[in-house]
Amino acid sequence: MIGGRGRGSNLMSLVQEFENDPDIRATLVIAPSEGAPALEWARSQGLATAVISPKPTESYAERLASILGEVNWICLAGYLNLLPAEIIRAFPNRILNIHPALLPKFGGKGMYGLHVHEAVIAAGETRSGCSVHFVTEAYDEGEILAQTSCPVLPNDSPATLAARVLRLEHRLYPEALRIAIERSQS
Ligand code: GRF
Repeated sequence: MIGGRGRGSNLMSLVQEFENDPDIRATLVIAPSEGAPALEWARSQGLATAVISPKPTESYAERLASILGEVNWICLAGYLNLLPAEIIRAFPNRILNIHPALLPKFGGKGMYGLHVHEAVIAAGETRSGCSVHFVTEAYDEGEILAQTSCPVLPNDSPATLAARVLRLEHRLYPEALRIAIERSQS
């Protein structure tokens, strides 16, 4: 599931990582609005896509549930809304999110995009990174499954730090998905 203005770089890295994997296949990309640039890319890759607006919330859960029919795992990649509780209950420990900081620090409502990196720099952190966690009904609070870190350099701007962290994200997310799947099978 990607964001409304999503670049989709994590989506792309996940799809590419599992392209030749016999067991894991990306099948469906969901965006909250037609404007997501990554939707075009997904369509060009032959992936099914769906645009489901989070409003109004009552029908949102039903529409999501019906389209997620055959899906086993959900990866949030830039998706900013909270998922309906019904969906979280229907996929116990099968919904992952990637966050561009070392949770539990710098997470929660409003902590997305450059806001995260601004806060990390303002706090004087010397390391940042990214976290993949299970999704619950609260922002960025589920169990952390995997993390990796990088330095925050003295002359970093939010944008330079974001770029360094994003490179880590592209490696961590596929790895974390494999870990989650293996854990679910043991
Ligand atoms: C990433 O930084 C991710 O950590 C956050 O949203 C951003 C999505 O970027 N949850 P992209 O659309 O995958 O390029």
